[in-house]
Amino acid sequence: MDQNRPILSRVATSAPDASTAIDRSITDFPVATPIDEDNYFRFHKPPPYLSQISNDVASFINYNHQKQRKVVLVTSGGTTVPLENNTVRFIDNFSAGTRGATSAEYFLEHGYSVIFLHREFSLLPYSRHFSHTTNCLLDHLKFSNNGNNVEVDDDLQKDLVSVLKKYQQVKNENRLLLVPFTTVHQYLFTLKLIAQELSVIGSDALFYLAAAVSDFFLPSSRIPEHKIQSHDHGGKLVVDLEPVPKFLRRLVDSWAPIAMIVSFKLETDSSILIKKATTALERYNHQLVIGNLLQTRKTEVVFVTPNDNEWIKLSEKDIENQLEIESLIIPKIVTLHKEWIKSRDDLVK
Ligand code: PMT
Repeated sequence: MDQNRPILSRVATSAPDASTAIDRSITDFPVATPIDEDNYFRFHKPPPYLSQISNDVASFINYNHQKQRKVVLVTSGGTTVPLENNTVRFIDNFSAGTRGATSAEYFLEHGYSVIFLHREFSLLPYSRHFSHTTNCLLDHLKFSNNGNNVEVDDDLQKDLVSVLKKYQQVKNENRLLLVPFTTVHQYLFTLKLIAQELSVIGSDALFYLAAAVSDFFLPSSRIPEHKIQSHDHGGKLVVDLEPVPKFLRRLVDSWAPIAMIVSFKLETDSSILIKKATTALERYNHQLVIGNLLQTRKTEVVFVTPNDNEWIKLSEKDIENQLEIESLIIPKIVTLHKEWIKSRDDLVK
């Protein structure tokens, strides 16, 4: 494969689609019920670049399926909710995409090909090790050859070589596709598109939904075109949001019915975590919910399945050795996915 071929779907998601996003001819989007979930896709325009992503995703899946590789969709980072069409203000959440970017690397190590549906400018597999927020690469560079060349400090050589080798191998093998989103609207349209493309490979597809998806949004019929002026509303800004339809059920039942689906549940109150994760599993009828608490998400998670709750925790020693919890999570999911594929194969025998 061409080593310089970009692995990123080159679409810009952070710039608003100012001319087309606003449509005052449509009525307010109704409050979501299970029956009218599909209205969302009827009443909202798809992002204009969706067909480009569709091509990138279809050829990625096709290529990797021919190579007999399993494909995982990893979602990562937080979605935004714009308050204006020419977006100056938006609602956001805390997620930096650490869980998603780290997990993607471990899936790649286990031979999976990865579609990485991520918040634009959040952490990415491999480059996350040297991002300005985690470990700024510029702090490890020095000049040589009278200031004409740049060299990496000795202390970083080993890490950089190891990460670069993995990254280049994955690129050469065409096993990683980066697909960006910014808004919750872009996320939902792109998730649906990728799910439908992935349904072609049946149980070889795995969904690992680590993105922190907004629960509330402003329908396009109510988004003002221009920046909200502070004097417009008597100096107050009252935001009236609608609930985002819960599309997980549609994913399970209709978009990718044979794939294995893993979702996450984030809470801040430990006393309700298991209950909320169990309810999600029952409500959406998928295979696994991974529960985590905001405060401890990097050191412990709980696997909630119909029969069992299993805590996975890093020990003091693991933490000292900078072990990542995803190095424990992913092998377990790989095993569960194998069992899932076998159970689907047995069904059709
Ligand atoms: O990025 P980090 O800082 O590493 O943080 C990682 C994380 C805490 C964000 C991650 O581990 C996590 O828990 N993600 C899910 C957050 C959450 O609680 O999502 P939710 O309850 O809104 O949604 C439940 C599940 O459905 C999630 O898997 C979500 O990705 C998915 N979902 C939700 C709504 C929707 N419309 N579409 C979805 O796919």
